[in-house]
Amino acid sequence: SQRKFFVGGNWKMNNLKKDNEKLIELMNNASINYDKAEVLVAPPALYIDFVRQRLNPNVHVAAQNCYKLEKGAFTGDISPAMIKDCGADYVILGHSERRNVFGESDELIGQKVKHALDAGLNVLPCIGEKLEEREAGKTEEVVFRQMKHIADNISDWSRVVIAYEPVWAIGTGKTATPQQAQEVHAQLRQWLATNVNQQVADSTRILYGGSVTGATAKELASQPDIDGFLVGGASLKPEIIDIINARN
Ligand code: G3H
Repeated sequence: SQRKFFVGGNWKMNNLKKDNEKLIELMNNASINYDKAEVLVAPPALYIDFVRQRLNPNVHVAAQNCYKLEKGAFTGDISPAMIKDCGADYVILGHSERRNVFGESDELIGQKVKHALDAGLNVLPCIGEKLEEREAGKTEEVVFRQMKHIADNISDWSRVVIAYEPVWAIGTGKTATPQQAQEVHAQLRQWLATNVNQQVADSTRILYGGSVTGATAKELASQPDIDGFLVGGASLKPEIIDIINARN
C-alpha cells in the first residue's frame, strides 16, 4: 500500500527516568528499518524533553494530550506550543482514557485537534467503541460520530494519523481479531472516502490499538486497512521491537 507502516508506543502514566533510560537504550540499540516503519513514543509530558534528548532522532516523540489554547490560566495543562518547544512533533488526542476517565467530549477533542494542527503539530486522534456499544450493534454509529467531530476540524490530513482502539480491547488482553479490526478499519476508510475525499481515504494511516503484542501484531499487520499500531502495555517491553518489525 502507499501508506507507510506506523507504530506508536503510548507509555501512559508509567516509568521513572531510570526506566525511561532503559527503554530508550533498548530502542536505540534495536534493529529497526526506519524506511519501512515510522515509529513514535509518547512519554508522560514531564519526560518529553528527557526522552527527546536521548532517543534516536528517527523516532517521533509525542505528548499524550494537550489543551486547545496556546497559553493562559489553565492550571495543570500544557499547550501544543510547549510540546513543540520541548522537541516533540506529535500529540495523541482523544485517547479512550481521556474520554472515559477524564470525561473529554467529542467537541473538546475536535477543538484540540484544530488547535494542535494550527500550532504546527502532527496529531494522532483516537476513536473506539465500548463493549456495550459493540454488543448493541452501535460500533459503526459510535466511531463515525467520533470521526466526524475530528474530521470537521482537520485542515491538513497529511499531518494526521488515526487510531482505532476498541475500549474493550485496551489493557484487557483481549485483542480484537484481525477480522474484527479490519472490518472497522475498512468502514472508517470508506467513511473518509465519502465524507472527506478518496485521496485522504487512500493516504491516511489508520492504526489499531488494544492489547497488541508481539504475538498478535503480524496477522493484524497483514490486513489491508490496518496500517500499524498504537501500543500501550507492550510498548514498555522489549516486544515493542517485534511489533515495529511486524511487517518485515
Ligand atoms: O494507546 C494505547 C492503547 O490504549 C492500547 O493499550 O496496548 O495496553 O491495550 P494496551
